[in-house]
Amino acid sequence: MIFAANFKTHHTRTATHAYLEALKEKVSLRPEERIVVFPPATALDSYDTDFTVGAQNAYPTYNGAFTGEIGAEQLEEFGIRAILIGHSERREILGESQSFVAEKFRFFQEAGLEIVYCIGEPLEVREAGDDAVIAFLKAQFEGIDTTYEKLIVAYEPIWAIGTGRAATVAEIAATHAALKDIVAKPILYGGSVKPNNAGEILAIESVDGVLVGSASLEADSFAAIVAAGRA
Ligand code: PGA
Repeated sequence: MIFAANFKTHHTRTATHAYLEALKEKVSLRPEERIVVFPPATALDSYDTDFTVGAQNAYPTYNGAFTGEIGAEQLEEFGIRAILIGHSERREILGESQSFVAEKFRFFQEAGLEIVYCIGEPLEVREAGDDAVIAFLKAQFEGIDTTYEKLIVAYEPIWAIGTGRAATVAEIAATHAALKDIVAKPILYGGSVKPNNAGEILAIESVDGVLVGSASLEADSFAAIVAAGRA
């Protein structure tokens, strides 16, 4: 079971240190569990923790003239070996195209990082039915090496992110089952995962973990999600 926390544009380096300390007090990892925390870039640090700390984003370069970006050199300083790629906020708000997302994927695959690769459909596609959803998600694997050994997929329907309206158990089960035919990798669900719905979501057979935004921001709430996954 993989529990991933995406802080997005929340928390500082000081707050992330305190968070990881607090989480350590609340959760002792079982052998079959992993926790991966994605703080903002300014909070990347060499943390003394059993949890994995990853980057929410980086530019596909070791270093270079890319004002405002960070590359592999800046991740290397803190031993960061995991990265989120393809999050819908980067695709939609920052305008990342599938070809750019695929270029990032190739670069960080080459660098050997673990990649949490996010996919997910907008509401109008969900409303068009299951076939439309699967076709949309398939297209998000264009240019992506789905055999990469350090690949974790995160299915996050855009209409469920930050809305408080998670996909239903039936929707998640059907979509994850279809995705398992496309990619033989762990698949996380993301989109309004909370302590009160994590148990039923994590009990779905094709769900290998969760990627949590808002409900990961407090260590108490994220620890409650881990506990729900054990129940
Ligand atoms: P949410 O975000 O849990 O706040 O819906 C999930 C995500 O975007 O990864």
